[in-house]
Amino acid sequence: MLVKLLTIVFFLNILYQFNQSSSQILEFTYDGFHRPLTGIYLQGISTVTPSGLLKLTEKTVLQTGQAFYTRPIQFKDSPNGTVSSFSTTFVFAINPLMPTVSGHGMAFVVAPNFYLPSATPSQYLGLFNITNNGDDSNHVFAVELDTIQSAEFNDTNDNHVGIDINSLMSVQSSPAGYWNETDQFKNLTLISGKPMQVWVEYDGLSHKIDVTMAPLTENKPRKPLVSAVRDLSSVIQQEMFVGFSSATGSVLSEHYVLGWSFRSKGKAPPLTLSKLPKFPELGPLRMSLGLTPREVLITILLISLFLIFLILFLVRFIVRRRRKFAEELEDWETEFARTRMKFKDLYYATKGFKKKGLLGSGGFGSVYKGVMRKTNKEIAVKRVSNESRQGLKEFVSEIVSIGRMSHRNLVPLLGYCRRKDELLLVYDYMPNGSLDKYLHNTPEVTLNWKQRLKVIKGVASALFYLHEDWEQVVIHRDVKASNVLLDAEHNGRLGDFGLARLCGHGSDPLTTHVAGTWGYLAPDHIRTGKATTATDVFAFGVLVLEVACGRRPIEIQNQRSERVLLVDLVFGFWNEGNILDAKDPNLGTECDQREVEMVLKLGLLCSHSDPLSRPTMRQVLNYLNGDAMLPDFSPLDLRGNGMMMLGIHQRVGEPVMSNGGSSMVDSILSGGR
Ligand SMILES: Nc1ncnc2c1ncn2[C@@H]1O[C@H](COP(=O)(O)OP(=O)(O)OP(=O)(O)O)[C@@H](O)[C@H]1O
Ligand SMILES: *[C@@H]1O[C@H](CO)[C@@H](O)[C@H](O)[C@H]1NC(C)=O
Ligand SMILES: *[C@@H]1O[C@H](CO)[C@@H](O)[C@H](O)[C@H]1NC(C)=O
Ligand SMILES: *[C@@H]1O[C@H](CO)[C@@H](O)[C@H](O)[C@H]1NC(C)=O
Ligand SMILES: *[C@@H]1O[C@H](CO)[C@@H](O)[C@H](O)[C@H]1NC(C)=O
Ligand SMILES: *[C@@H]1O[C@H](CO)[C@@H](O)[C@H](O)[C@H]1NC(C)=O
Ligand SMILES: [Mg+2]
Repeated sequence: MLVKLLTIVFFLNILYQFNQSSSQILEFTYDGFHRPLTGIYLQGISTVTPSGLLKLTEKTVLQTGQAFYTRPIQFKDSPNGTVSSFSTTFVFAINPLMPTVSGHGMAFVVAPNFYLPSATPSQYLGLFNITNNGDDSNHVFAVELDTIQSAEFNDTNDNHVGIDINSLMSVQSSPAGYWNETDQFKNLTLISGKPMQVWVEYDGLSHKIDVTMAPLTENKPRKPLVSAVRDLSSVIQQEMFVGFSSATGSVLSEHYVLGWSFRSKGKAPPLTLSKLPKFPELGPLRMSLGLTPREVLITILLISLFLIFLILFLVRFIVRRRRKFAEELEDWETEFARTRMKFKDLYYATKGFKKKGLLGSGGFGSVYKGVMRKTNKEIAVKRVSNESRQGLKEFVSEIVSIGRMSHRNLVPLLGYCRRKDELLLVYDYMPNGSLDKYLHNTPEVTLNWKQRLKVIKGVASALFYLHEDWEQVVIHRDVKASNVLLDAEHNGRLGDFGLARLCGHGSDPLTTHVAGTWGYLAPDHIRTGKATTATDVFAFGVLVLEVACGRRPIEIQNQRSERVLLVDLVFGFWNEGNILDAKDPNLGTECDQREVEMVLKLGLLCSHSDPLSRPTMRQVLNYLNGDAMLPDFSPLDLRGNGMMMLGIHQRVGEPVMSNGGSSMVDSILSGGR
């Protein structure tokens, strides 16, 4: 019986003691909030991160986040008793998403419940709302870490620590900081993103509330930051809940708790700082962007991918650019270095060889207009494709030596550039284009007789210079209307030495296959394949007739679609005794009939089928200048020849003659020797 009684008393005692320890003294420690998280109730937007940080708020505006210890804490021994001492310490960090501005702060809370459902975000910190702020029935005790100055609550600044009782109007507050061992005040910035420790202590006997804070590197300061003497008996009820509350406004910041301990009726156990989760978790990037580790990883991946793409793109760009502007330069070219031009410069001058700048295309390539960037000089760039590279060296040296010639009736060659499959020749730009544009296809602008005569004289003097006046005999080989360009004063200038070949004085001209343009080719040239000064004179003769008659060298007559040579046509008119009927009807009547007649006859004489009967350019110049009279000759002298010319042209020219002035043979560049 006694034993029974004793055991009952023993068990009751144990039960009592258990009851005492469980309800009267309570103590807990969280060195980090690692998953699975027990004993903490999360509310609103609060979460715990994988690394064990209690994250009260995150990147959402106007939200509250709370975390409460789930078990109630007995603050009083009886409902009408006094509040016993309690103590808590925690490590927090606030990470503003922008360095200098931040959202609202956070608070340690003692509340009658483990949730504050009607509390609002922003300046109310998730503790109160606009109607119940300051209301004694709240029974809320809090320590705020406020990062925004709210004038309505008499906040001292935007970085302060305050003791709040039922209201956000602090009982006592102070700018954040601590007193060091020699009692010097040191400022702390709540939103520095650095973890800091806070101690909150209440002494049940003296009713003194002390709030102390310090950086993690410091021990607990002796002197508290904020102190107040208040009997909390009317505020704190017998059983209350402890936790944290935080809120975001329109400016965002993240609020973290790294570790937390609490004890009622005694001193909170110290935190083991070394065991706390790392903060920031992933370095400054995470800090400044407020991303989760996964997002950071993805961001880093994306950024590196982007960088890789950027590098690839740049490499491609550089390689392409190199290829685009690649040139060929061989040793033998060093002597021409002065006339050599950079492809890049030409590319920019012609704005990338755009169609818009295309002046025209001929047998060997296209001609583009351009403006040199440095000098603002207008140029014409001829792009000659150059598939076989035979004879290129000779060609370039010819080109360059011809470029050295200067004559007012030659189109100046400014330079050249050589690339893998092409050669670029750079000429002075001739503002008035080529002569053919003024003669054929019912031109908008024509030239009057004076201008035409000036052009003819110009071309004659250029040819004379090439044939006789320069150090070497130069045969142009492609005298024709489209190769006569008009400068600003409508001077005729002979251009395109694309086919010109140099021959030493006296030595036999080199033979190659026939190159030139149908209609301008002398019969002897076709027969022998040899270009001579006389073949140039023939072409000149055709050109003279072309200028005087405004007709193409070979015309197709509409009715029977027969090809008629201009030479024969003029000859026909002369034979009938009215040579002047051959003249261009656009010329009108104001021209000197005798001059026209002379020029027409000169044209016929120059395009004589017998090379020996053709005058030299020196003689041509004399006739044109009136220094000598044209020899008297009649149609009869030319008749037989006329028929012969026709025969030859028809036989040889048949396959390609359909479009009159097209070039017959590829350049020496593609043809080789
Ligand atoms: N220096 C220049 N200034 C202005 N326009 C030019 C210049 N050189 C050529 N052109 C224009 O470009 C056009 C094409 O010239 P290109 O020399 O390529 O052909 P083409 O003279 O008709 O035939 P070919 O290839 O037999 O010379 C010419 O008709 C002319 O209008
Ligand atoms: C507590 O105080 C109230 C009034 O202040 C009283 O009505 C109540 O009986 C008291 N309770 C105890 C247990 O003393
Ligand atoms: C404020 O909170 C109280 C409860 O504490 C609630 O009754 C009241 O409706 C709330 N007011 C607003 C404006 O939310
Ligand atoms: C708020 O501060 C002002 C000026 O500092 C003071 O006059 C006022 O009384 C304060 N209000 C409260 C409720 O403390
Ligand atoms: C406290 O701060 C003052 C001023 O910065 C400094 O001179 C002093 O050394 C500090 N004391 C300690 C113990 O760190
Ligand atoms: C500390 O902060 C206060 C108010 O914010 C300021 O007046 C003071 O100059 C600061 N002291 C230091 C050492 O930065
Ligand atoms: Mg040309």
